Amino acid sequence: MAQLLQGDALTELQKLPDAIAQAVIADPPYFNVLENESWDTQWPTADAYLAWCESWVAEAMRVLRPDGLAFIFGQLGKREHAFLHLMSNLARQHQFHDLIIWDRAVGYDERRDSFTPQYEMVLVLRKSDHVKFNKDAVRIPYDAKTIETYLKDKRYKDMDARRAHLDAGKFATNILRVPSLKGISKEKVGHPSQKPIDLISKLIACSTDEGDLVLDPFLGSGTTAAAAESLNRQWIGIERDPAYIQMIQSRLSSL
Ligand SMILES: C[S@@+](CC[C@H](N)C(=O)[O-])C[C@H]1O[C@@H](n2cnc3c(N)ncnc32)[C@H](O)[C@@H]1O
Repeated sequence: MAQLLQGDALTELQKLPDAIAQAVIADPPYFNVLENESWDTQWPTADAYLAWCESWVAEAMRVLRPDGLAFIFGQLGKREHAFLHLMSNLARQHQFHDLIIWDRAVGYDERRDSFTPQYEMVLVLRKSDHVKFNKDAVRIPYDAKTIETYLKDKRYKDMDARRAHLDAGKFATNILRVPSLKGISKEKVGHPSQKPIDLISKLIACSTDEGDLVLDPFLGSGTTAAAAESLNRQWIGIERDPAYIQMIQSRLSSL
């Protein structure tokens, strides 16, 4: 299944059946972080934004399978801190699973009176204690020099097994370092908050198997759909803006 739905996230989520998605990847509006984007400045107050988020998250959790995971992006870009309150509320209303830091590798929004922000957060919620999670799917390769050094360690008797272990790489931590997309990046398709496909692929790879369904209620430029296609996952994506729907269609047709 590959389904692109044009419409409002909450309305479209309400039409979906219970427990069909193995993973939800949601990168919603942040609330007044991107001041030039009308989709990010839709709410009169932070409380109105929080209430809206709590409604769509409740629907997304209904659509999630019992062993599924929901990944919800948020950032504190220019000192807006609605996401701190949102995380706290959502962690009380649902089961908290993890808080991932997306390390963008370079800073953004130069502040004069504090350190330059370099990360965004991804709150991870679950529905039960038994979740599908494949740690082997996301490993960080060791460089050749490190492998060479480790192989000199004589404590290991079975060097073939040791080499296989080192070649597989180390387990990823919950600080995922994936460089944000530069203006000149070939991957960029023109959306102001496009996420790197490598980052979204890691989230999909660890939380789903081939054939599982991934749901993204705020598809934007279609990153989740593109990642799902390349990993042989099914997907449903919702996006309200017709211009972004066109962007998604042309992105997917050039895959
Ligand atoms: C942060 S962006 C998502 C970017 C996406 N992750 C990517 O990699 O391209 C949020 C998206 O949500 C869309 N959006 C805002 N309000 C919406 C709503 N009520 N229903 C559906 N989509 C909405 C915006 O048009 C925007 O494209």
